[in-house]
Amino acid sequence: MAITTDITLAVEQLRRGGVVAFPTETVYGLGADASNPAATQRIFTIKGRPANHPLIVHIGDAGMMPEWAREIPPAARRLAGCFWPGPLTLILKRGKAPMEVTGGQDSVGLRMPDHPVALELLRAFGGGIAAPSANRFGRVSPTRAVHVRDELGDDVDLILEGGNCRVGLESTILSLIDEQPRLLRPGAISQAELEIALGETILTGTQTTVRAPGMLDSHYAPHTRMLICPTENLVAAAVNLISQNQRLAVMQRTPLQFSAGILTWPMPEHATGYGQALYAALRDLDQRGLDVILVEQPPDDPAWRAINDRLGRASHDVRHSLAEP
Ligand code: TXA
Ligand code: MG
Repeated sequence: MAITTDITLAVEQLRRGGVVAFPTETVYGLGADASNPAATQRIFTIKGRPANHPLIVHIGDAGMMPEWAREIPPAARRLAGCFWPGPLTLILKRGKAPMEVTGGQDSVGLRMPDHPVALELLRAFGGGIAAPSANRFGRVSPTRAVHVRDELGDDVDLILEGGNCRVGLESTILSLIDEQPRLLRPGAISQAELEIALGETILTGTQTTVRAPGMLDSHYAPHTRMLICPTENLVAAAVNLISQNQRLAVMQRTPLQFSAGILTWPMPEHATGYGQALYAALRDLDQRGLDVILVEQPPDDPAWRAINDRLGRASHDVRHSLAEP
């Protein structure tokens, strides 16, 4: 599928029920007209995503919230005012959003993305665009147009070019369905920022009334086995794996010396840069015929929360297996 900058063509595709990949500041989305169930159905087919996993509805203006949600609590208006356009998805009570989009739930996820191409597309289209990340279900989200083309090819009707995603990690998701706000997925907008804006504390962790599949244990995962290891054990872990004839890359933030035969992959020292670079690094390393991607464990610090969350899911429960080699 060709990559284009032609917004008019993209809008035409959306109007006729097509599926359009488009850039946002977080990751690329796989979009369709949110009011057209046949079109949104194609998203599930292309991704191989179970039908009960809801899609986020992207809107071009916070004033469109009442079109999709039936109740807009003051907290939603306040947060939209503070953080939209931006990497924050709000879960509200479902309004006219079709059940196909909300995965059969009586809630809807809404987000106004902060990317010029996404905003231009949304404004030219005029409606809501339902979009998950533009990758196969459970895999690494795309942060460049070529990632979408490589992974989804001709399954999509059009790919809009928008450069490298600025944030690189999926949006923060906050549910405003219940009495107290609940963080469902950490992202670039931190819990502390949300709490300051709201003037109240936010709950974390899963909740029975809302399903958020980004919260599955295994998600955002490369095909290659990924292990997370504290800095002080990294060299020993690498030696150990090499002695088992494992082909190995080390994603390192600290410039440590490794023996020949180990591919070292320097990662940015700070969380913002690391978040931007993470998915592209995983995609690149995934194509090198390696047995293991050994990741230097980032700091346990709020700035690294979204990164630690994604690394934990991408490595799926083996993260501690090398902690004491
Ligand atoms: O940054 C992002 O959020 C990107 C860009 C494209 O906007 N989108 C994205 O979509 O990451 P996706 O589908 O890969 O992840 C969306 C998450 C899923 O975990 C989904 O379950 C949750 O949002 N979600 C959507 N609607 C929901 C709802 N009504 N209730 C609970 N969770 C919901
Ligand atoms: Mg996704």
